[in-house]
Amino acid sequence: MSTEKRVTFGSKLGVVLATVGCAVGLGNIWRFPYMTGINGGAAFLLIYFICILFLGLPVMLTEFFIGRKSRRNAAGVFKVMAPGTKWSIIGYNGVFAAFFILGFYAVVSGWTLEYIFQALSGSLNGKSAEEFQQDFTLFSGSIIRPILWTFLFIGMTHIIIVSGVKKGIERASKIMMPVLFLILIILCVRSVTLPNAHLGLDFLFKPDFSKINSSVILSAMGQAFFSLSIGMGCLITYSSYFVKDTNLQKTALQVTFLDTLVAILAGIMIFPAVFSFGIEPTAGPELVFITLPNVFNQLPLGNIWSLIFFILLGVAALTSTISLHEVATAYMHEEYKMIRSRAALIVSLGILILGIFSSLSMGILKEYTIFGLTFFEFLDYITAKVMLPLGGMLICIYVGFRVDRKILKAELTNEGTVPFYFFNTYVFFMKYIAPIAIGLIFLNELGLIQKIQELVA
Ligand code: PHE
Repeated sequence: MSTEKRVTFGSKLGVVLATVGCAVGLGNIWRFPYMTGINGGAAFLLIYFICILFLGLPVMLTEFFIGRKSRRNAAGVFKVMAPGTKWSIIGYNGVFAAFFILGFYAVVSGWTLEYIFQALSGSLNGKSAEEFQQDFTLFSGSIIRPILWTFLFIGMTHIIIVSGVKKGIERASKIMMPVLFLILIILCVRSVTLPNAHLGLDFLFKPDFSKINSSVILSAMGQAFFSLSIGMGCLITYSSYFVKDTNLQKTALQVTFLDTLVAILAGIMIFPAVFSFGIEPTAGPELVFITLPNVFNQLPLGNIWSLIFFILLGVAALTSTISLHEVATAYMHEEYKMIRSRAALIVSLGILILGIFSSLSMGILKEYTIFGLTFFEFLDYITAKVMLPLGGMLICIYVGFRVDRKILKAELTNEGTVPFYFFNTYVFFMKYIAPIAIGLIFLNELGLIQKIQELVA
């Protein structure tokens, strides 16, 4: 068992920062703004908040419970907690989700490297909004370049995984995360002082309720799960490294708060600029990559800003890719009794193959679709909108109906040493509200609710 070999976080601060490092990433700064953009703005944000609070928080806490209680990898925990049952399917779902997420996440992470490179070579200077747009489409749709960057990023993740996450990442997170915050805030200020910035703020904060439909709700739920890294065992794995007296409730609140804050700051940084430069908020995955270089161009020393920003984005992505990679590596290592480096190599190669296809699906393989989605979009859809919510739902059902409440309470209160004022509310949400809400959202998206309504009418 690799329990002893696994990283243990050095301190409570380490616990919070590593978990925030896992949660905060491209999901907040790249995916959140473009999802908000294509789903109509503030109405999406509102549902996103509701999902974070009523689904995200209970699921996160429940994952912390499972992880710290059994101190195993995502698939292994259910063998300890529910031996001889099918509950370990939750873990397998998580392992596959890790592969699939990395299959497109590594590609976008690679894009950050391209932009770092461009900032260094000075080629981001003096371009118009259209030029940024064209350049991005040309770059992301080309064959070799994006794949090379993807390869490089997977290589970086691989090296860290093989040599152990250890203090390197914990220490890097301690420096990088606060710097990321600072840069975000400075860029928010720059963005809201651009001409017509208020249009962007209105888009982000003034809800138009007519925009809400089943697909917006599913997207908001998917975004909440993706951003908080829940439903796929990442937080189970991380919480198995938590120090014994970690306050699980407080940690869940802190991580959720910081993750949501970063997403909102990213929104404030992007949307005023989007409206100011006349870019469509519905641009999709390229949104951040076109908007931000534009903002930087408005600043003195624009290149330096680009450089700092994309380095930080890359680092935020790296702390997430490591956590994703670790889920799959730990599983291969333990389940197949492989040495860790071989397990990591298989995972890296698997991601690379998926990454090649998802990168090519931005260009020459664009026409090959699965359910009308390109391979890149398919990996994103199947994970964020299906596998993570499904995993979260099963986690809640398992703990809600199979775990003794006393055991649950003892773990979440550190054997009664920290109070849990809303324990019953939490249990109610975890047991009933979260599974039912997730189930309904699925049914609604599949169109089944409309069908039932039609049948009844
Ligand atoms: N939450 C990460 C982000 O926002 C992505 C992620 C998802 C990481 C699931 C781990 C598990 O970028």
